[in-house]
Amino acid sequence: DWTTSNFIEETVEEIKAKVGSKQVICGLSGGVDSSVAAALVHKAIGDQLTCIFVDHGLLRKNEAQEVKETFGKEFDMNLIAIDAQERFLSQLEGVADPEQKRKVIGTEFIRVFEEEAKKVGNAQYLVQGTIYSDVIESGGSESASTIKSHHNVGGLPEDMEFKLVEPLRELFKDEVREVGEELGLPEEIVWRQPFPGPGLGIRVLREITPEKVRILKEADAIFREEIKQAGLSRDIWQYFAVLPPMRSVGVMGDERTYSYTIGLRAVKSKDAMTADWAKIPHDLLEKISRQITNRVPEVNRIVYDITSKPPATIEWE
Ligand code: XMP
Repeated sequence: DWTTSNFIEETVEEIKAKVGSKQVICGLSGGVDSSVAAALVHKAIGDQLTCIFVDHGLLRKNEAQEVKETFGKEFDMNLIAIDAQERFLSQLEGVADPEQKRKVIGTEFIRVFEEEAKKVGNAQYLVQGTIYSDVIESGGSESASTIKSHHNVGGLPEDMEFKLVEPLRELFKDEVREVGEELGLPEEIVWRQPFPGPGLGIRVLREITPEKVRILKEADAIFREEIKQAGLSRDIWQYFAVLPPMRSVGVMGDERTYSYTIGLRAVKSKDAMTADWAKIPHDLLEKISRQITNRVPEVNRIVYDITSKPPATIEWE
């Protein structure tokens, strides 16, 4: 029978057997999956593990700071934080295709990990928080075709030499959360909404520029704050803003504007394989729309995504 404590016990033994006395690194994003994976591996091998948090410049507003604080406080783990904002943004310059962006981001993550691995005793093993739905949707199971190559499954460079340790590969998100709770991770980590590895890189649609990232961060932070204040955050699986590659005409005072549109996305789901658009109350949507257009001057139009998955996906890219 599958129970979280059986799973933890067996997985800890498997990890020990696999890596022996070798050094291991873990790509830690601060999200549920990589945090739980890190905690499991840490339970198995303690100080042989070094976690690496990469700030690729495509995190949400204040997120890098929050992750460093939470992990510094809650965990007694080796943690290295890398500011890689410039190198990611320069690699992404001129790249517009969603799958191409995932490839570029996935490759750059591995390049950073390779550099850091050299500094921690030439670590050969890389822990990733890949879960079952990532494997399925990246075409990693035998029957499925690729819907999106999740960067930690399909977006890895072919010349990568790490041996992967992916202890959550067979788990669904709700099981990952149970394991996290059993391992004693704090609620603010276990119940964080899922956030994709490529981050805002696939929410600034098409080509990414620093200005677009900045606009999206502001709008997204306002949306998330309002949902949290309304007490809806545990109810909604994911809620975030996207920035489409278009402008439209508006009016402010007597002046014509020609500015960006923000798309709001909020869905309910159990495992991200299917999802229903969230019926957020209209008066809350109105408040969010007013807040964003008042506080983010580059935005003059807000749309709310009313498609479920299928036929849409959760992310727009
Ligand atoms: P979609 O958009 O395919 O997303 O309905 C399903 C779930 O996966 C997340 N997602 C990703 N996660 N790398 C990730 O680590 C990716 O490239 C990626 N694309 C989508 C998405 O946020 C949702 O939770």
